[in-house]
Amino acid sequence: MSTEYSIKKVAKLFNISTNKIRFYEEKGLLSPKRNLENEYRKFNSQDIIKLQAILLYRSIGIPIDQIKELINNNNKMNFLNHFNNQWQVVNNEIQRLNVIRESLEEVLDNIYESKTNEITTDFLEIVEKGNKINNIKDNWKDKWDFNEWARRYDVFIKEDKGNLNIYKNYEFILEDVYNKAINTEHIAKNILEIGVGTGNLASKFLNKDINIIGIDQSREMLAVAKEKFPRLKVRLGEFLKIPYSDKYFDVIVSTYAFHHLNNQEKCIAIVEMLRVLKDNGKIVIGDLMFRDGKEEQDVLKNLDSREIEIIKDEYYSHIDFLEKEFIKYNRKLNYTKIDNLNYIIEVK
Ligand SMILES: C[S@@+](CC[C@H](N)C(=O)[O-])C[C@H]1O[C@@H](n2cnc3c(N)ncnc32)[C@H](O)[C@@H]1O
Repeated sequence: MSTEYSIKKVAKLFNISTNKIRFYEEKGLLSPKRNLENEYRKFNSQDIIKLQAILLYRSIGIPIDQIKELINNNNKMNFLNHFNNQWQVVNNEIQRLNVIRESLEEVLDNIYESKTNEITTDFLEIVEKGNKINNIKDNWKDKWDFNEWARRYDVFIKEDKGNLNIYKNYEFILEDVYNKAINTEHIAKNILEIGVGTGNLASKFLNKDINIIGIDQSREMLAVAKEKFPRLKVRLGEFLKIPYSDKYFDVIVSTYAFHHLNNQEKCIAIVEMLRVLKDNGKIVIGDLMFRDGKEEQDVLKNLDSREIEIIKDEYYSHIDFLEKEFIKYNRKLNYTKIDNLNYIIEVK
């Protein structure tokens, strides 16, 4: 028989009042069973996990109705999904607050430095800028449905039946990204892969016992990666919302993933990658890119309309655009052309 807890015990466990627990019960968030003889509540481990989630969501200000929805959805899920939801909610909140903190810093500087001690129109611009960044971060959507693709992905890239043969140099690109990543003056202790997919690149680091964390926005991709490489540490995360603190990684790598962001999103992703990268760290990205607009035109000229449609469904980077973005943060970009659609960029 599983352990059951009284309301008093549960209240003590979470350091809250028994009234608070009753309140969540009244609101329909919790429904512990009752002892048939004395009507006392009996909390099982599911109830405890539910309460832990409620308290977490409340601590970051999520309204009761919304929590109800989250919790009810969670009922149909396994524990991994349940805690991944919490991971996502917490990280989203950290991201949102970080942007607000940066805006406040700017506003405060403006006020301190203004002679009149009055709020200028700059204030509105700063707030607007912060809101815009948060909107872009929140509105990125996976319109390609990688969850659905996850279990077929490895076979797909091997057969490379796509019109454009974008995976024809897949193995070579992964190997080259790996070699460029480990080619540093100092020993890279922490490596981050963004868009880890089924873990093929990450496994090269694991094979050499190098610490690597793989993040991906697709839970199914993470599940496949973890099944294939049990030693790999995987987490839900996005280019626009990297769930780690500042200056945490020595190297960031990514393959075949960056082209799922448009230019506006790429600019924010660049800031986000540089945030979690150490000062002397580097970024190595293998992806679908063109040198510039002219090269794109030259390549498209030789393709049929279906192939052009496939390219236009995604956002192949222009290297000259990325160069200009990185230079704003004093980072230099070097690139290697692999084939007519693939490049590897290295940013130091
Ligand atoms: C084409 S797969 C490439 C997987 C792997 N990197 C490889 O080279 O085999 C693209 C991967 O990037 C992930 N991805 C796409 N956009 C992302 C984003 N904004 N943040 C995090 N992951 C993303 C997808 O979920 C998917 O797993």
